[in-house]
Amino acid sequence: MRVDVVTIFPDYLAPLDLSLIGKARGAGILQLAVHDLRRWTHDVHRTVDDTPYGGGPGMVMRPEPWGQALDELAGPDTHLVVPSPAGAPFTQAAARSLADDPHLLFACGRYEGIDQRVIEHAATRMRVSEVSLGDYVLFGGEVAVLVVLEAVTRLLPGVLGNADSLVEESHAAGLLEAPMYTKPPTWRGLDVPDVLRSGDHGKIARWRREEGLRRTAERRPDLLAGAGFQVPGVDVAK
Ligand code: ADE
Repeated sequence: MRVDVVTIFPDYLAPLDLSLIGKARGAGILQLAVHDLRRWTHDVHRTVDDTPYGGGPGMVMRPEPWGQALDELAGPDTHLVVPSPAGAPFTQAAARSLADDPHLLFACGRYEGIDQRVIEHAATRMRVSEVSLGDYVLFGGEVAVLVVLEAVTRLLPGVLGNADSLVEESHAAGLLEAPMYTKPPTWRGLDVPDVLRSGDHGKIARWRREEGLRRTAERRPDLLAGAGFQVPGVDVAK
């Protein structure tokens, strides 16, 4: 997979050199380039923003540098991903879908966001998704790109040593995962549940499923409804 990230703070993306994403890059599974948006400015101040039409606080990113950046970086298979608090919620299903794309191009907005015409124009030439990490506002899209890329990269074939961990993890089946334990069997007076040390794999699988359901019902009843369970007070049709 090829990934390009355009930002005015390339250093924010430095963690992409580390850990399993760094390894995926080293192995050639991920070809990643981070670009400074100011490369596509032409004035002495390398201006990327201006005041919003209609008034209001803050600044908006001007369309010209973005237009030139996308002209240069987009190809026939590009999916433009724009993190924004006004985007569609980013989910595991969205991560799975992005993991199938051959080329992701991330546009990191700052300030009050990017002039909407950039997104409108790009949508006439390529797939475009505005995605939100959650119902809160960040300074800009950079941290969201780190999150989205981590969720996507771990789904790419060859990145995780044990592909089974993708099958059992939280959200794989639309539910939360059961709690996990390791050695020692007793720690500070707390025991690992007996069933996990029983060696009975059928019983363990049942226990994990029930614990996953219990957790989901307690913490995320909305997911339970989405996974096809009837939950009083939660409207499945939503
Ligand atoms: N940029 C600013 N806030 C954001 C959010 N909640 N999700 C994604 N990108 C953002």
